[in-house]
Amino acid sequence: MIDENRVEAGALSAAGVPAERVLAEVRQLRGADRPTHGGRLFAYVYDPAVPGLDELAATAHRESAHVNGLDPTAFPSLLAMENALVGAAGRVLGAGPGTTAPDVVGSVTSGGTESLILAVKAARDAHPEITEPRILVPSSAHAAFAKAAHYLRVALDVVPVSPDTLRPDPAAMAAAIRPETVLVACSAPSYAHGVVDPVTQIAAAAAEAGVRCHVDACFGGWTLPYLRRLGEPVPAFDFAVPGVTSISVDLHKYAYAPKGVSVLLHRDATLRAPQYFAYADWPGYTMINPVIASTRSGGPIAAAYATVRHLGDDGYLRLAAVTRDAVAGLADAVRAVDGLRLMAEPESTVVCFTATEGGPDLFVLVDELTARGWHTQPQLSYAGLPASVHLTVTAAVAPRVAEFGPDLTDAVAAARSAGPVRLPAELTALVGALTPEALTPDLVVGLAAGLGLGGEPGSDAGPLPERMALVNTLLDAAPSALRERLLVEFVSLLQRPTWAPS
Ligand SMILES: Cc1ncc(COP(=O)(O)O)c(C=O)c1O
Repeated sequence: MIDENRVEAGALSAAGVPAERVLAEVRQLRGADRPTHGGRLFAYVYDPAVPGLDELAATAHRESAHVNGLDPTAFPSLLAMENALVGAAGRVLGAGPGTTAPDVVGSVTSGGTESLILAVKAARDAHPEITEPRILVPSSAHAAFAKAAHYLRVALDVVPVSPDTLRPDPAAMAAAIRPETVLVACSAPSYAHGVVDPVTQIAAAAAEAGVRCHVDACFGGWTLPYLRRLGEPVPAFDFAVPGVTSISVDLHKYAYAPKGVSVLLHRDATLRAPQYFAYADWPGYTMINPVIASTRSGGPIAAAYATVRHLGDDGYLRLAAVTRDAVAGLADAVRAVDGLRLMAEPESTVVCFTATEGGPDLFVLVDELTARGWHTQPQLSYAGLPASVHLTVTAAVAPRVAEFGPDLTDAVAAARSAGPVRLPAELTALVGALTPEALTPDLVVGLAAGLGLGGEPGSDAGPLPERMALVNTLLDAAPSALRERLLVEFVSLLQRPTWAPS
């Protein structure tokens, strides 16, 4: 007998949906996404284009998906794989037996942001006597440090980077260390521009002040050492540098593992100790968590383990060489176009460019590139740094490089003839006058509709307009506090439950 009270909404169907149809639905939904493979998406994804690797990782993921990292004594397989990944990351980053950092330890986290939050937590909790702890970062540091500071109620001190070198002045970093500073951080390389900070000097200044120094190598930690072995002039940034106390490296970036795996390394176990959370003061199991999550799927860890095992040192060296050549080809393509200039000479796996005086409108150019099947990442202007276009380059891009140059030239010509986006006068006036506090729900809905954001519930239109130049121009004109608030509001408009049955 069918229960009349049975419910149905969104993903919950009344009778259950046959497996084949469910998979067809997933594939159909995925059809709206940017292409994760094929070397035409320059952010979010890291594709080595190695045949069979996806299948291997997916199989390993399936083997361990239901294993729970909550208790390593119940599931020693995960502990073993985690320790093996930490050993591999340590070795890549200048640690382990026979190095100057033989006692390095670490943990596997869910991603770069979690690794950075935990580096900040460990630094904060190592100093319970400091009642108002602070961390110090260059302005190019990843936003996850600001998130860590916010979550952990730690003050964030920011040293601006030079508009020429895109790096902080180490003397300015040293001068900004205060008695309450619990952590100094720098990047190897920065995400936005791909430049490596002066780690040696910054770590020395931190050590002299008796403060921890974290190197955020989430992005480049798995490529810079290989690029160095290929003869590139990679500056010192790893555990060989005295004063570096912790390093983060994301395996779901250039170790080419599926999403959900980063490694946070500490120079020794004493430095790691305050990262743990333990709680026995309740009637259930004593909770001992090295990372933020308690229940953790073994899937991502097993997938990363399989990926690293399969590619091996030779594989990563080969992929780094392919990527380096792709970076050089893309940078040449940018140099060849009148009206564009590189923000920095590439020294890792990022190509970042901006427009010269009289050059094309970058946001229009990004749309023109999208129309030609190239998905780049626009970066808004910030504190004296111009708006720019970011390309994260992975090995999968290499076979596409020859096609990029002509399309870039073509897109620049189209952007020039389209001219820059002009915000309607009322929008310019609105952004000029608006403060985050003055944003009302009605204003947000009106703005979103005016910009074509959000889509209509039930309509086929995606949540974003086909061309984003207007949205990006509006955001670019807004101060950062307003950008944050507007985007929070726009994203929260997108996050609405689906009540109708799928
Ligand atoms: C340098 C750097 N640090 C931290 C992160 C945050 O990593 P995740 O997105 O995995 O949380 C990123 C992401 O791009 C990064 O490039």
